[in-house]
Amino acid sequence: MQLVSNRSAKLGTPLSEKERNIVGAPGAAEVRRFLPAFPIYAPTPLVALPGLADKLGVGAIHLKDEGQRYGLSSFKALGGAYAVARLVHEHVQKRLGRKVAPAELLTDEAKAIAAELTVSCATDGNHGRSVAAGAQMFGCRCVIFLHAHVSEGREKAIAAFGAEIRRTPGNYDQSIVEANETAAAEGWVTVSDFSWEGYRDIPGTVMQGYSIMMAEIDEAAPQGFTHVFVQGGVGGLAAVVAGHFFDRFGSNRPCLVVVEPTRATCLQASAARDERTAIEAGESTVMAMLECYEPSLAAWEILEKCADFYLDIPDEAAVAALKTLAGGEGGDPSLTIGESGTAGLAGLQAALADEAMRAALGLDKSSRVLLFGTEGATDPELYQKLLNS
Ligand SMILES: Cc1ncc(COP(=O)(O)O)c(C=O)c1O
Repeated sequence: MQLVSNRSAKLGTPLSEKERNIVGAPGAAEVRRFLPAFPIYAPTPLVALPGLADKLGVGAIHLKDEGQRYGLSSFKALGGAYAVARLVHEHVQKRLGRKVAPAELLTDEAKAIAAELTVSCATDGNHGRSVAAGAQMFGCRCVIFLHAHVSEGREKAIAAFGAEIRRTPGNYDQSIVEANETAAAEGWVTVSDFSWEGYRDIPGTVMQGYSIMMAEIDEAAPQGFTHVFVQGGVGGLAAVVAGHFFDRFGSNRPCLVVVEPTRATCLQASAARDERTAIEAGESTVMAMLECYEPSLAAWEILEKCADFYLDIPDEAAVAALKTLAGGEGGDPSLTIGESGTAGLAGLQAALADEAMRAALGLDKSSRVLLFGTEGATDPELYQKLLNS
């Protein structure tokens, strides 16, 4: 386990207008404008965990529980489906030659036009489920690329939304390459949560979709936080969380720690080198949704400006945190949070157990900590196995 601080010369540089439109207040307002296209929208709970805070010796812990989001069981429901809605909206407006209200996307007329579009992406599970759900909701065709390590349970959950599944050999990063090549050849639209040079707009829209979660937190927690522990895969979520607090509070923002599996630390490695860095793929981690070996470009450019620390945690720590949340400490409610969703808590526990880290982060009895339970039991069989392990 290692704690790496952000030493970038860009730390503290204001977000660009475009970045604010993704992670700042303007981004969340734009998502709100589109909510009529999502009648199933409801804010998720911000759960107070006073028993756990007592046990760990901090002032307060709040966990944003994304386990029920849109019935898709992860915060990713907010991104892919929203990006599909935006693409369909643009296409329908163009075809009808007039402005179209977001709610109109749910009409038969709009769906017939949306059927002309095929959206596709590579995924390790949750993002693909969101894209597939969006495609089904708004009537377009969907093809999802899954790499060899994605479980059958996750495949079934995506296929249940009517998406065509294509299996690819190798890991997540390799599946991205295959998905992009196929989409380019077939004329499909790639709806990826991963961004690279020349491909920023759609991943930016995916991230903008997450930003409503931050608006919900603001409304539910007027007292605010001193520390935030948020898990990182390609960095999209962490960038939205860090960018939101930076945009709102500037240098008075809470201290933000990005937590990754020790087996997939592309964000930490990038911070250590002060440069977006791809790392070698290694042994797979139980935190399958965080198993990414290269940061998303659009996310990294925001993290450079406003993430404070990067911490890695071993697989056992995430599993232990899963059990802690399921058990409900000292009268806290029992929470079903999946193995990738507990990494933030595992990071907090690791930091508190290490004197040097605790001091570096300024964690003490008065700290008010925000965590993200980013998924429920998205692979129920695996969840049960880990719970009973
Ligand atoms: C449950 C869960 N948590 C966290 C993440 C990390 O998000 P990002 O890849 O944007 O860093 C993911 C990504 O798929 C996820 O599914």
